[in-house]
Amino acid sequence: MHSTSPIRDLPMSAATQGEASLLEKYLAVRETSLRICAPLSIEDHGLQPMPDASPAKWHLAHTTWFFETFLLSGYQQDYRPFQPAFRSLFNSYYNAVGDRPLRALRHTLSRPGLNEVHAYRSYVDDAIVHMLTTGPAPESVALVTLGINHEQQHQELIVTDVKNGLWTNPLRPAFRAIQGNHHPTSAAVSAMEWRSFDEGIYSVGFAGDGFGFDNEGPRHNVYLEGFRLASRLVTNGEYLEFMRDNGYGTAELWLSDGWDCVRNNQWSAPLYWEQRDGEWWHYTIEGMKPLDLNEPVAHVSYYEADAFSRWAAARLPTEFEWEVAARSCRVAGNLLESGRLHPRAVEAVEAAEPLSQMFGNVWEWTASPYGPYPGFKPAEGAVGEYNGKFMCNQMVLRGGSCATPQSHIRATYRNFFPPHVRWQFMGIRLANGN
Ligand SMILES: [Fe+2]
Repeated sequence: MHSTSPIRDLPMSAATQGEASLLEKYLAVRETSLRICAPLSIEDHGLQPMPDASPAKWHLAHTTWFFETFLLSGYQQDYRPFQPAFRSLFNSYYNAVGDRPLRALRHTLSRPGLNEVHAYRSYVDDAIVHMLTTGPAPESVALVTLGINHEQQHQELIVTDVKNGLWTNPLRPAFRAIQGNHHPTSAAVSAMEWRSFDEGIYSVGFAGDGFGFDNEGPRHNVYLEGFRLASRLVTNGEYLEFMRDNGYGTAELWLSDGWDCVRNNQWSAPLYWEQRDGEWWHYTIEGMKPLDLNEPVAHVSYYEADAFSRWAAARLPTEFEWEVAARSCRVAGNLLESGRLHPRAVEAVEAAEPLSQMFGNVWEWTASPYGPYPGFKPAEGAVGEYNGKFMCNQMVLRGGSCATPQSHIRATYRNFFPPHVRWQFMGIRLANGN
């Protein structure tokens, strides 16, 4: 474990933002992935604590595979693959590309070693830089942009997967050394307030210049009843009240699947929470810490978010209510670039805004199942498998987390996970009305 804090020093300010060239954005994103992994030992790079999580080494290789497979092998006539066998070895789920190892067995890939994966990255970087500096075809430009956004998604997964892997170790080792005060406590957050939104027909979904994933469109109209959205996220302290009120033991608060999940897994608190001598602690990127009651609750499933909202005599917002409300908010907050990699309590400057914490901190569960928008058509070819084929049995989350890069998130962005999942930074914002 290194003692430095590589993420805090990332040179991401301009390079991943709109004004940077595609080449600058590409290089900045590739560098960021390596910086996120810098505190990890070689052994840490191979951790896979559960099938949902992948080793950091695999993420570094697979993001490289994406550029090699969809860009270089497809559009560069004279390109020679770094190692032809990697085409199937680092394929994640693209049936059009062919066979691949079982996801649950990614931790068995001790070869290639980390040095070879780094060499693979450099080899592909050189080829992409050559392509981008010698007049790339318009299709390749679009695919480079997709590859950049794909790698940003995997950057967040590196953080959450390694966090889960290190937590699985009974010693609860830290991802990185502790920064500053070991026992920080935030200032008390102000009471949650309701913000009202009028009923009406709203246009939702991505349209226009810039990048949006295919699942964010087509832009279309939805009718919304008048609704109210909470001014901030639900805190650890509020979630603790739910627990102390026997929330986990009260069947009528839970969806049937959720109640089964609670009982089968013996859930009694969010993931990473532990009671020590009567006090609640939780595992963070910097190891075990006493619970800060003012921070947003994180690592709860959809089932827990839904049960909490019922206990609070409220509900979860739909994804469209969230999107309409988010339009008035700046796309700013506790995102990857803050370097915290942990949710933070509402700060004074944020509290002055009508809605705080809409972007960053935790992905916010919505009451909306993940499905296609009217007129949705996946892209032609293998990249058409990117989003569309997962539109079943998952719920939409909005707003990004403390591990999401700033340039990756926007009001129309749709993340999605099955309702039982907890290892991502997932939290709760309440809604009310109608
Ligand atoms: Fe991927």
